[in-house]
Amino acid sequence: MKQRIEELKKSFGEALALSTDSASLENLRVEYLGKKGHVASLMQGLRDVSDKREAGQLINAFKNEVEGKISEASEALQAAIIAAKVRSARKYNPTLKPERELGSYHPITLATREVEEVFVSMGFAIENYDEIVDDYKCFEALNIPKHHPARDMQDTYYLDNGQLLKTHTSAAQNYIMKKYGAPLRAIFPGRCFRNESTDACHENTFFQMEGMMIDEDISISNLIYFMKTMLSEVFHRDVKVRLRPGFFPFVEPGFELDINCEICGGAGCPSCKNSGWLELCPCGMIHPNVLKEGGIDTEKYSGFAFGLGLTRLAMMKYGVKDIRDFNSGSLKALSQFKSI
Ligand code: DAH
Repeated sequence: MKQRIEELKKSFGEALALSTDSASLENLRVEYLGKKGHVASLMQGLRDVSDKREAGQLINAFKNEVEGKISEASEALQAAIIAAKVRSARKYNPTLKPERELGSYHPITLATREVEEVFVSMGFAIENYDEIVDDYKCFEALNIPKHHPARDMQDTYYLDNGQLLKTHTSAAQNYIMKKYGAPLRAIFPGRCFRNESTDACHENTFFQMEGMMIDEDISISNLIYFMKTMLSEVFHRDVKVRLRPGFFPFVEPGFELDINCEICGGAGCPSCKNSGWLELCPCGMIHPNVLKEGGIDTEKYSGFAFGLGLTRLAMMKYGVKDIRDFNSGSLKALSQFKSI
């Protein structure tokens, strides 16, 4: 019996060394500890042994040894599997760049910032204003009384409580004048809304940037100087513009400042309603009624205002043919502005 156990120990040791995965370990366990395994047959062999006590102890010790070594080996195997997994997992490195695709600024944001920079360098403050305003701010304070025909061009979305989505950034003029008084230099970009049918150059949601300068002795030449400076700084090249009279109840005189269509070079295309020109920055000398309504002393002060079409500016600057692309949320279109 003793010798048989010694032989089994030896062959178990050899087989264990070769069992490097959990399946072969399990086979080994069955071979030695299973119902018909070696340990079981040793027990059966006890019948023929004279010193059953000693032989029984030897078998038990062998059984314990086999059990212990198999469970040791399977624990080591599990640990090795986990260690390999950890090794193969990518190490966390806080200095690595995130793998996520970087986003980009919206072209309107890019254009806004560029214009803001130009005006800030000329001493203008940047203001922000609500998108929901009342009739007074949007129209009446701007010399557009109820039932004035100028309202026809600015149909918008009305709320149940009588408020409305602002149709132009001019809606903040009254608030800005009351906030700063005179003298004043401010720009205020914002989102505007109109109930319009859309096409390549019209959207129901678009951006403008309003500007106001109020001081003593402000004249049309100041207005022209600031507009020219802004355009040459923003386009970094000479762009063809034209100034023509325009009517807006809140300015007198009023002008339309048009830019030669950069998409077609002036030949006419859907982006410019086939006219070759785009109304970019209507402007004018602020009407005395508007100044008075803002609490400004019209004996002492005068000023100019402009309403730059930021969305149109971005179209011309970046060659975007269809205004609707800006609100499309199309990553294919927007991702092109990453490098700008
Ligand atoms: N608010 C006008 C519009 O959206 C544009 C405008 C015209 C603004 C003349 C001005 C201005 O400040 O002086 O149609």
